Amino acid sequence: MEPVQPTVSIVGAGPAGFALAADLQSSGKNVLVYSHPTHLRHAKSVLGNGGRLQVTGAINGFATLRITCNIEEAITFSKVMILTVPSTGQETVLQELKRFDLRRHTIIAVPGNLFSLIAGMDVGCILETNLSPYSCRMDDGDLIVLGKKSRILIAPLRRDLSPAIYNAVRNIFPVELRWCSSVIEVCLSNVNGVFHPLMMLMNAGRIENTAGDFLLYRDGLTNSVANAMLAVDRVRIRIGNSFGLHLESAVGISNECYGQGFANLVDLAQNSPPHNKLKAPGDLENRNISEDVPDLLVCWYSLAVKLGIDASPIQAVIILVEMATGVSYLESGRNLRKLNLEGISRSELVERFRRKRRVSNERKALTIVSRL
Ligand SMILES: NC(=O)c1ccc[n+]([C@@H]2O[C@H](COP(=O)([O-])OP(=O)(O)OC[C@H]3O[C@@H](n4cnc5c(N)ncnc54)[C@H](OP(=O)(O)O)[C@@H]3O)[C@@H](O)[C@H]2O)c1
Repeated sequence: MEPVQPTVSIVGAGPAGFALAADLQSSGKNVLVYSHPTHLRHAKSVLGNGGRLQVTGAINGFATLRITCNIEEAITFSKVMILTVPSTGQETVLQELKRFDLRRHTIIAVPGNLFSLIAGMDVGCILETNLSPYSCRMDDGDLIVLGKKSRILIAPLRRDLSPAIYNAVRNIFPVELRWCSSVIEVCLSNVNGVFHPLMMLMNAGRIENTAGDFLLYRDGLTNSVANAMLAVDRVRIRIGNSFGLHLESAVGISNECYGQGFANLVDLAQNSPPHNKLKAPGDLENRNISEDVPDLLVCWYSLAVKLGIDASPIQAVIILVEMATGVSYLESGRNLRKLNLEGISRSELVERFRRKRRVSNERKALTIVSRL
């Protein structure tokens, strides 16, 4: 009998979703990509080519992708759905998903940015990762994969993840997974919140003057920018400490995910191939601000306030971004109200997400396999 091909629905038809789809297909998975019907910016050209997509860089070749704009088709296609929309698009997707019974589905948000706390629906299992496995861009309808991470961080919302789901998720992802103690640890490990907003803010004049005609990391992450990032990073690590976590520095997490060994932020900016060729965006209306400020910095800041941690470096970044853009991110972003954490006390918050000693899912799964 032919082995059954695992199926995966990918919700989000941008470079990150396409890279994952192409990579999964090349390893024998059966993939369907869903694009929201009003968000066809990238899907349009691929659909126009009959689903054919040229991929260059860290992944190479042609992929023929199956794409749908019908969410019901994506739900029926697979019990495993990977969300690759930016976190700013998760609410829109949730409105679509909420019309269906997903109690037997597993949803993995890549990246999550605490998607599981805003989901507000009964799903079999929700997991989230800290980053996308790929650094990638669309260029004239082609996909360029600048880098593929060797590892990303992941956690389920509920700690009682069954070994069957654990194994299914581990077998689907084309990169190594480090299982974290909670979705809070995963969110604190999305180091884009440390890198992106400050690089944008501290280079705002240059971005607007040149319409982004410079290399964001290589030219824009200098010593003083790195110093400001380190101040934000220290707050992030202190928030982690309150939950019993010993988080790596931002450069440490980036090193872990890309399998690199850079000594510091400037070293990474100068020498990391997936970073040092990235052009700056043409203006400040970019997800380096519009995603990472409301869905990471506001979230970290709100947690810090609840925990009684001085988060003035993060607050300073948010306020400056609000002054520069006129957008009230503290109000619209993932504050405690949006995360459904407003009513709980500091100790309840810590208890809910604290690192606990437990038998790891990996050990549980291995025990079960060895008993078979
Ligand atoms: N690409 C990378 O190198 C990279 C690296 C690290 C992390 N990530 C993260 O991975 C995620 C996806 O990245 P990406 O580059 O693929 O993003 P993207 O192209 O900006 O968006 C992915 C898809 O989501 C759609 N979308 C955007 N807003 C939406 C909304 N409100 N409702 C429904 N659909 C919406 C986009 O459609 P439209 O464009 O038509 O709106 C696109 O089809 C982001 O969170 C990003 O920060 C990406």
